[in-house]
Amino acid sequence: MTELAVDLSSPDSYTNGVPHGAFKQLRATSPVSWQPEVRGRGYWAVTRYQDILTVLRSPARYSSWRGGALLADPPAEFLEKLREGMLNRDPPDHTVMRKLVNKAFNPRRVTELEARVRQHARFLIDRVRANGRCDFATDVAGEMPLFVICEILGVPVEDRDALYALTARMFGTEHKDPAEALRDGMAAAQEMRTYGAELGRQKMVAPRDDLASDLLGAEIDGRRLTEGEFQAFFMLLFNAGSDTTRSLLCYGLDLLLERPQTLQRLRDDPSLLPTAIEEMLRYESPVIQFRRTATQDVELGGQRIAEGDKVVVFFPSANRDESVFADSDTFDITRSPNDHIAFGYGTHFCLGAPLARLETKYVFEELLIKLHDIERAKPIEPARTNFIRSIRHLEITFT
Ligand code: HEM
Repeated sequence: MTELAVDLSSPDSYTNGVPHGAFKQLRATSPVSWQPEVRGRGYWAVTRYQDILTVLRSPARYSSWRGGALLADPPAEFLEKLREGMLNRDPPDHTVMRKLVNKAFNPRRVTELEARVRQHARFLIDRVRANGRCDFATDVAGEMPLFVICEILGVPVEDRDALYALTARMFGTEHKDPAEALRDGMAAAQEMRTYGAELGRQKMVAPRDDLASDLLGAEIDGRRLTEGEFQAFFMLLFNAGSDTTRSLLCYGLDLLLERPQTLQRLRDDPSLLPTAIEEMLRYESPVIQFRRTATQDVELGGQRIAEGDKVVVFFPSANRDESVFADSDTFDITRSPNDHIAFGYGTHFCLGAPLARLETKYVFEELLIKLHDIERAKPIEPARTNFIRSIRHLEITFT
């Protein structure tokens, strides 16, 4: 066991940013290390880029199904429910499900969505423009992904705040007591599924031109999504798509505000935006970790991992790995190549990556044109979390 000054599984360890010093130390001295958990049996922390790729590309050895993809061990009946979602499955089962979803999440739909995303970015920035100040996290960065998810699923946009509040409870970041966090999270998950079930019923009776209707009708080799699988997918989109994109937008802006010359460079040459967004993803990766479970005794990074052990991969650490990224602690908006793995890698590579990139590009395009002299009114306020680095508030002023 490698004694660390920080507990990597504690949400309190991330409130002042990612503990990059600890990750650097681990990558150098103990890249696969056994870490204790306050209320768990402990886990292997994988911190080097190459080892993380090995884990993520080998689902037969490192399973998402066996113990789920979340760090905290869920109670057995909750794990059964989680396994209805693709995030908590392995091939070949996962492959079929992903094909079904891809069929509905097709390029035509993403192209159609692009115009709506652009229009909405314009609307969001125009709405705050005259005020001279806004909470970028709640007024812009949080609104965009929720709008897009409601749009693709055909959910009435008025319901977005209630659904977002459920995802916040599911991540359990506000409860100090992990047992209470888990109980409340499971209750919120059930409410989310009930909403998804009702939506599914409506779409079955009266299909519309939206992803939810396509998804319910999609078929691969005579296989359709079950009701439970549809509900799990519905929940996954809100959980995976909202706070992640909000985090990217907020940390992205914060990085630029910290570096006025870089912000000016981007204003002068907006064609740098795509590489700048990739660098934001690398430098302030929105997702901290995902979990796998070893299905057999296996060796990784010189350690013997036993069957049944928890294996946790840390994305912010991989994305600062000095053996892959030159000057890895430097934020460079022209970095190329930039093979960050903020969207994961392999089997479960993020389904929403093209959407997240579109949303971020259009919000920043509008912001660079319309908001000037941007300053932070208060320091960025991150949520308490060990999972998705959501931002509560980012209050800014501008002309
Ligand atoms: C900056 C934004 C985002 C980041 C950083 C991000 C990150 C990730 C990561 C790291 C995974 C891999 C999980 C694993 O290996 O177990 C993942 C999976 C996933 N993401 Fe994203 N995500 C983002 C946005 C989105 C959006 C906008 C959506 C949809 C609206 C979405 C939907 C999904 C889904 C459905 C999966 C599961 C895929 C599977 O199991 O095959 N994500 N995401």
